[in-house]
Formats: sequence, C-alpha cells, structure tokens
Amino acid sequence: MRLLAIESSCDETAAAVVEDGRIVLSSVIASQIEEHKKYGGVVPEIASRRHSEAIVQVTRQALEQAGCVLQDLDGIAVTYAPGLIGALLVGVNFAKGLALSTGLPLIPVHHLRAHIASNYITTPDLKPPFLCLVVSGGHTHLIQVEDYTKLSILGHTRDDAAGEAFDKAARAMGMPYPGGVHLDKIAEKGDPSQFVLPHPKVDGCPYDFSFSGLKTAVINLIHNASQKGDALSVADLSASFRQAVIDCLTERVIRAMEDTGHKKLVVAGGVSANSLLRRRFAQECEQHGWSLYVPELNLCGDNAAMVGAQGYYEYQAGHTAGMDLNACAAMSVSFDRAASGN
Ligand code: KG4
Ligand code: ZN
Repeated sequence: MRLLAIESSCDETAAAVVEDGRIVLSSVIASQIEEHKKYGGVVPEIASRRHSEAIVQVTRQALEQAGCVLQDLDGIAVTYAPGLIGALLVGVNFAKGLALSTGLPLIPVHHLRAHIASNYITTPDLKPPFLCLVVSGGHTHLIQVEDYTKLSILGHTRDDAAGEAFDKAARAMGMPYPGGVHLDKIAEKGDPSQFVLPHPKVDGCPYDFSFSGLKTAVINLIHNASQKGDALSVADLSASFRQAVIDCLTERVIRAMEDTGHKKLVVAGGVSANSLLRRRFAQECEQHGWSLYVPELNLCGDNAAMVGAQGYYEYQAGHTAGMDLNACAAMSVSFDRAASGN
C-alpha cells in the first residue's frame, strides 16, 4: 500500500511517499527555522503562511522523487493533531482537497504516534508491544504501545517538555533557536560535575516529569553570574544541564521498564537525537538486557515519512476520515477517534 503523507504541525512543511508503513520512497522537508530564528521561537502566523506557500511544491517534489503520480497512490495520510492550529489546518485542508479530487481515502495521523512510527522505518522488524519515551519540543510522554493504534500514557511532563527546556536553557546561554542541538554539541566539551542542578520529581507520580525548575535554575545561575560580572563556562553549564535532563529521563524510564516488564524500549521525537541520551540509554539497555530502538538521526525531527508509516497502521485499523475532518491543537496520543465518533 502506497501512501502520500503530509506534515505541517509546527515549522516544517513535509511530504513523503511511503510503502506498507516501512519503505520510504521519498521524503521532502521544507524547514522554516531560518525565518523563526529571528524571533527566538516559532511565530504561529508566519508558520501557517509559509506552510501555505510551500505545501504544493513540497508535495510535487515528494511525488516526483518517488517516481509516481497521484493515480499510483492508495491513500493520503495527514497530521491532524496536536500542534499549532493554523499550521495543522494547512496540511489537513490540502490533504482533504487531494482526497476529494482523487477519491483516495483520507487518513488522520496523530503527531506523536507518527514520531513513534519513525522507528518502524529505522527498524523494519520492530513490532509492538513496547514502552516508548517520546521527547520532543512540545511533549515528554512515557507511553505503553500495546498495538500500532492502541496506546496508553504512563507518565508525562507537568510543565515544560524536555525539548522546550533544552531550547530555553540554550537561549539563556545565547544560542540560536532551536538551541537543543547546539547545547548538545557544546556539552560534549564541558564538565557535567561543575554545576549541581536540581532533579525535580513529582510527588506520588513516579513516571511524571518536571523540567521547569531545572530550566529556571540554569537561568538564575546565568543572571547571578552576569550581575556579579563572573565568567561562566557555557560548555560546563551545558554539560551539567544536559546531564540533569537525561538523568531525569533515564530514572523514569528504568522504573517504568522494570514495573511494566517490557523488554523493548523505543525512543522518539526531536530530543531522541541527543547524543548523551543515546549513549546513556544504550548502556542501561545493555545492562538490563533490554533492546533499544532509536530513530536514525534524519527521522528524529519532524518529517512526513513517519506520518506515512503510522498512516499505514491507522488505515489497517479502519481509521479513515471524511470531509468533516478537522485539525485539533491538543489531543491525547491515546485518543480513539473512531470510537469517539468524531
Ligand atoms: O519532534 P520535534 O522535531 O518537534 C516537535 O514535535 O516538537 O522536536 C524538536 C525539539 C526541539 O526542542 C529541539 O531543540 C530538540 O527537539 N532537539 C534536541 C536535539 N536535537 C533536537 N534536543 C537536545 N539535543 C539534541 N541533539
Ligand atoms: Zn514533532
């Protein structure tokens, strides 16, 4: 089954052609990062406008690179939630237009489910059940993936997402948006023992996360140093911050793996590109005898190939939509659209 997939939930306009949920025939991404950098973060109105401008060309390129035309496709998969509402609407309305004009089935895909599915592309024999840590710019979730379309949330962040905390700490240290990748690179040269940072916990909720206190601790350190005129090593502070975030993630993940008895650990989302996270999780999984799955680096961030991968399984489960499909800014990864009748 060959799907055209569309992604426009944040600041990447992407289209891909994916076969049977695992084989990527093409994947095109038009990033808006350079434009949003000027403002230190994504400006939603600009994002929507750029998606509208790019989506036709990006889709054309994805079809061309896959060597196919619309008649060769079996369905249109599209990210419909969660994300920036104006940005999502561009992709959803474009996909609806294509589905209406071609008569192809329209397949709505949840963005976090798509991130998880990036691992089905990287590891073609990966199958649920497994435990998944989704760490992106907007979400930090511990999810039990019981089946491709049956997911339950074990824990989540109570405030900032891990990627958001990385970006805000990086911004306070003067790095450009999105700072996570820059902070990761600089941290490689620093000493993580130079700053003692908090490792916040949520009382009574062993699988939940909290990163805003950690982020604020870093911002306070920077302000205090600048008020006193003290020099502060950005490399050491980056390394200490990165270590604290990865400590918090690792601790919850180990506990959840032990408590649930899962043997497969899957990581997904932009922060799964983090080099310390990849090293630390590899060590822990080796020690505990668990198998670790992480997406290849070019599938960690937002892309449409992962939407095509998840779209295949949503279609198999009968999850298609009509012309009344709407975009949704917030939606749980466990939400069953078909059962809800929406
Ligand atoms: O999944 P994603 O592309 O977009 C969302 O759905 O949010 O995630 C983007 C996030 C950003 O916060 C970015 O800074 C972070 O992933 N990120 C990283 C790294 N690469 C990207 N954070 C830490 N270390 C990295 N190497
Ligand atoms: Zn994402």
